[in-house]
Amino acid sequence: MSRLLVTGGAGFIGSNFVHFVLRETDHTVTVLDKLTYAGNLASLDGLPEDRFRFVQGDITDAALVDELTRDHDAVVHYAAESHNDNSLDDPRPFLDTNIIGTYTLIEAARRHDTRFHHISTDEVYGDLELDDPARFTEETPYNPSSPYSSTKAGSDLLVRAWVRSFGLRATISNCSNNYGPYQHVEKFIPRQITNVLRGERPKLYGSGENVRDWIHANDHSSAVLTILDRGTIGETYLIGADGEKNNKDVVELILTELGQPADAYDLVRDRPGHDLRYAIDSTRLRTELGWTPRFSDFAEGLSDTIAWYRDNEAWWMPQKDAAEARYRAQGQ
Ligand code: NAD
Ligand code: TYD
Repeated sequence: MSRLLVTGGAGFIGSNFVHFVLRETDHTVTVLDKLTYAGNLASLDGLPEDRFRFVQGDITDAALVDELTRDHDAVVHYAAESHNDNSLDDPRPFLDTNIIGTYTLIEAARRHDTRFHHISTDEVYGDLELDDPARFTEETPYNPSSPYSSTKAGSDLLVRAWVRSFGLRATISNCSNNYGPYQHVEKFIPRQITNVLRGERPKLYGSGENVRDWIHANDHSSAVLTILDRGTIGETYLIGADGEKNNKDVVELILTELGQPADAYDLVRDRPGHDLRYAIDSTRLRTELGWTPRFSDFAEGLSDTIAWYRDNEAWWMPQKDAAEARYRAQGQ
């Protein structure tokens, strides 16, 4: 049994991990989360009180981070400013949380010799051409495009340097785009689902040809737990489930599932610097650590996700107007 400190555990993927760990192991979990616009305590409902504790706080608060890190066996670091469009509008919070916040955590982990797992994204590698047979591997050079991905890349490099210079007992994972319940409505898939549920049209950036490599959040969680259990200190593992789809195909699936014509969407202003394609080769994780994803059928996972948003309007409706107001201001 281990005591895990999970940063950002009130967000989309962090809360999925907390539920997953408390269901699948006998670990205890403390969540440290600032509850920004993206954090939601309702995503942590129903957890066993004797094995779960919530602390509201900022990962840049060195005293708080030090005290919590000292009292735990491992830190699993999800907290981040996570949305590309927001980073183009106002990069500063991305530097504070993603860079300084990660620095604050790894300094505490170094002081207390605490095992550290850093959650990152495939976006640190930049993008691929649509017709390129290549996929990202652990050896792909870093080439981030946006303020978001450059701050995630910076945080990955800090963790790598702390491993080499100070012997930090850390691993890193870079995962592809996640989907599933509890994702904020600013993100692509929930935005389109909730638009259709409210009688509004999905919004595709540019021509809708950009490709993302989708993985269900549960599969991300099982991969992180596998790395925590069996990963080699100092290593990076790419997490992906062979889920490449272009944005237009995803929107068409959503419209069809919700009984609308497949072409009932709008093309809107493209994202500046919009990465064309992401694709993950997760061979290392599968062969060295024996991980396999459970959600192999994207259409089925998407259908379950659509059903969740249909049944959980009370969870997402309070976010929706503010998210759409931000998009309107950006012409999207
Ligand atoms: P999210 O925006 O849904 O959640 C982020 C959480 O972090 C929120 O609960 C927020 O309150 C908290 N937070 C933000 N700033 C904080 C601070 N300064 N101190 C404490 N808590 C703070 O994000 P997500 O989509 O769940 O992403 C989680 C992690 O996974 C991020 O590190 C992200 O880079 C990474 N990731 C995301 C994806 C994806 O598809 N969403 C893919 C790969 C990797
Ligand atoms: P997003 O969920 O923001 O994730 P990321 O930027 O991390 O990949 O967007 C996924 C894809 O969907 C990306 O190509 C941008 C596109 N997109 C739209 O076409 N319309 C939208 O309304 C949003 C939010 C994103």
